[in-house]
Amino acid sequence: MSLLQGKTGLVFGVANDRSYAWHIAKALTDNGATCAFTSLPGEKNERRTGKAVESLGLSDFWLRPCDAAKDEDLDAVFDAYTKDHKRLDFVIHSIAFADREWLAPGKFTETPRAAYLAAIDISAYTLLAMAQRARGPMADSGGGSILAMTYYGSEKVVPGYNVMGVAKAALECTMRYLAAELGEGNIRVNTISGGPLRTLASSAVGGIGTMLEHTPERAPLRRNIEGSEVGGAAAWLVSDLSSGVTGENIYVDCGVNTIGV
Ligand SMILES: NC(=O)c1ccc[n+]([C@@H]2O[C@H](COP(=O)([O-])OP(=O)(O)OC[C@H]3O[C@@H](n4cnc5c(N)ncnc54)[C@H](O)[C@@H]3O)[C@@H](O)[C@H]2O)c1
Repeated sequence: MSLLQGKTGLVFGVANDRSYAWHIAKALTDNGATCAFTSLPGEKNERRTGKAVESLGLSDFWLRPCDAAKDEDLDAVFDAYTKDHKRLDFVIHSIAFADREWLAPGKFTETPRAAYLAAIDISAYTLLAMAQRARGPMADSGGGSILAMTYYGSEKVVPGYNVMGVAKAALECTMRYLAAELGEGNIRVNTISGGPLRTLASSAVGGIGTMLEHTPERAPLRRNIEGSEVGGAAAWLVSDLSSGVTGENIYVDCGVNTIGV
């Protein structure tokens, strides 16, 4: 039997076939899971996500629009999902947003209030908002695994990561508080701290080129990460093999976070 046979859940964040969410969905479906998807609203976004999901080899898939900054969109997605599926075993949170104007080296101090709050809202609060709505259906399924994507810029200063680092610190802390409260219902909550990968979102980060150059020079594995390696770790975190793991941040970054200088 496949590792994730019988497991069904929701994946937020497939924009195209370079998205971390795409690599995660690939690993989950390759291991027997059934994934349902959301995209940003708008014909162009929905078409792009649909094309990426098709490239996973899926034809008859569940896809709904969702702006995670809107409670009514999240309500509609979770309501529709629970109507159409018997179980909710996992939720993948692989979304983030910050206005690229403030993601340039040297620009952090100038970040306006609205840009700071929008980054935290969409990149961190949405994990809590999803967990609120997942709690009931996951409890009915005997528990589940909630997983979010983060980056090391939450812990150390990475030039250009700026307000996104603040949002990722909030995301990781949110993950730990959720894990503490939801564990009673056998719901596990973890983050994966992924290495730099060229995607739509990362192209907005002013320092992404430096991050991609730094990792092969410094990391124990002397190379950058592949999206599929994050996918593999996600499959493990969704599977029962990780049944004792919750409230953790798992680094999948070729070990670069372990190096001081
Ligand atoms: N690429 C990297 O180097 C890297 C490294 C570590 C962590 N991450 C994290 O991985 C996650 C996925 O990013 P990615 O790099 O795959 O880029 P991506 O652009 O492929 O994915 C980002 C996703 O966020 C979604 N999104 C943005 N605002 C949204 C909203 N209001 N409602 C719903 N969805 C919204 C976008 O539609 C997109 O699908 C993010 O949390 C990112 O911070 C990325």
